[in-house]
Amino acid sequence: MENAIRSLVAEFYRPDQVENISQFGRRLIITLVNAPEDAAAEENLRCKLNDLDGIDKVSIIHTAEKAPQPLKPEDGKWNVPGVRKIIAVASGKGGVGKSTTAVNLAMALARQGKKVALFDADIYGPSIPTMLGYEGVAPVSYDGKTFQPFEYLGLKSMSIGTLIDKSVPLIWRGAKACGAIEQLLTEVNWGEINIMVIDMPPGTGDIQITLSQKLDFAGAVIVSTPQDIALIDAVKGVNMFRKVNVPILGIIENMSYYVCPQCGTRADIFGHAGAQVTAAELGVPFLGEIPLHIDIRTHADNGTPIVYAEPEGTYARAYGEIAQKIINELN
Ligand SMILES: Nc1ncnc2c1ncn2[C@@H]1O[C@H](COP(=O)(O)OP(=O)(O)O)[C@@H](O)[C@H]1O
Ligand SMILES: [Mg+2]
Repeated sequence: MENAIRSLVAEFYRPDQVENISQFGRRLIITLVNAPEDAAAEENLRCKLNDLDGIDKVSIIHTAEKAPQPLKPEDGKWNVPGVRKIIAVASGKGGVGKSTTAVNLAMALARQGKKVALFDADIYGPSIPTMLGYEGVAPVSYDGKTFQPFEYLGLKSMSIGTLIDKSVPLIWRGAKACGAIEQLLTEVNWGEINIMVIDMPPGTGDIQITLSQKLDFAGAVIVSTPQDIALIDAVKGVNMFRKVNVPILGIIENMSYYVCPQCGTRADIFGHAGAQVTAAELGVPFLGEIPLHIDIRTHADNGTPIVYAEPEGTYARAYGEIAQKIINELN
């Protein structure tokens, strides 16, 4: 079956234009990279694939990303002083709850006795200062060379947001963004840290690839909602980390289902368990699901994430279980 699919695709696209072919039950997702957009050819391929037994939906996605270039020997890795293990919290697209997950996960890891740091590398929308309650506070330096990390709610943290003025939309590209991230990561007195969680920029572009190559990630956690479109991006995220040999710790399904704050009724508004199915298809662990609940949002917006605000609550427990799985995998 897989061979039949591959040979049909090969009739239309060169191997280097096919980034990924994933099958989810009866559905097929073909990700192309730098391939010509030819609607007639696509329709033709789609028809041929649909004729195969066991396939009834085919999506063809175009991307225009460069494959990650292997690091040259002269490009050293970044040294983050005092930090033992670094994990990436990543998502294929923005708004799926990557930062909410990163901050609550970092707190859940700290509650398991780890010394935890949280680094906000999301140049497109740094939100950790808001979520930890230090928005607008400038970092301090005692020696004029290095910064002290922020220490709020039991976490040491630093955010690229401390360099970005929210009122001035600033699009950092490539080297500039990476330079700023490197500086903030390496010039902070982190002290002794067991696990650093990095809230990555969403997506799988050059900046994300460079970070994955420059930092010795112990693993990556992918956050996705249950929706098809988010899952397609999650697959791209998994593939990106695999290409640069970062182990995938697993996928978390966020906004997994809606819980009514009045009556507690549950509704699967984005579908449900999509991420679990995708994780199984990709052969990566499924770490757990976090529902969509207003308390998770309001506590994050108020600078007191739910694991801090309601440490014995249902949601803190859910994040705690995910944290435990991650610790087990890291060992
Ligand atoms: N499980 C959840 N339940 C309720 N609201 C959530 C949940 N996860 C995220 N949110 C809210 O959704 C919005 C986007 O989440 P955020 O973590 O900022 O996403 P990202 O970092 O991926 O852009 C925020 O307002 C956040 O409070
Ligand atoms: Mg964010």
